[in-house]
Order: sequence, then structure tokens, then C-alpha cells
Amino acid sequence: MVKVTFIHPDGRQEQHEGSDGQSVMRVATSNLVDGIIGECGGDLSCATCHVFVDEVSWRTLPPKTPEEDDMLAVTAVEPTEFSRLCCQIKCSESLDGIVVHIPKAQR
Ligand code: FES
Repeated sequence: MVKVTFIHPDGRQEQHEGSDGQSVMRVATSNLVDGIIGECGGDLSCATCHVFVDEVSWRTLPPKTPEEDDMLAVTAVEPTEFSRLCCQIKCSESLDGIVVHIPKAQR
């Protein structure tokens, strides 16, 4: 299992476990994490799974695809260099302990 820590805009933190291959978006929605909607179910067509990845965790992530990059242009909150769509982040051993910050709005 892969531990994922979600940090809310008010500083609250919650940690959940994901299975290998499960997206961070699914870890969030299956644990009813506020602020991660995942409206399209991971099809890269809604951008309601926007997160800011912690700087240390960022280094362990595979690069974004051009399609993810395109969708990051329509997030509700201005993206930063650490923005990702967490439906595209798949849990794996190398990502164990990943920390993501939830933006103030998703739409
Ligand atoms: S869940 Fe829709 S783009 Fe990630």
C-alpha cells in the first residue's frame, strides 16, 4: 500500500492508503476527501482533481503528458509549477509518502 497525505487549504491533513496502480484521485474520492472531485472519473476532461504536489514528492513523479498539461490550463485555481491532475498520478512504491496540497476551489 502507498501512503498519500492530503493537506487542505486550512492546513488540516489526512492520510490514506492507495493500492498499486490506483490513482491519487481515486484514493481521495474513495475516502471522501473534501476538495478533490474527479468529476470525469479520470478521463482528463474535467480538471477537478487539481493538486499542488509537495516539492519533495514532486521529484519522484513521472512527467506530465501534453494532454494533462493542456487540462491544467483550465483549473479553477491558477496552476503553479507543482500543479498536477491527481487522476494521472498512479500509486506505486516509489511514490509512497507522497504529499499533495488541495487548492481552495476545483470549479
Ligand atoms: S478526474 Fe477529471 S481530469 Fe482528473
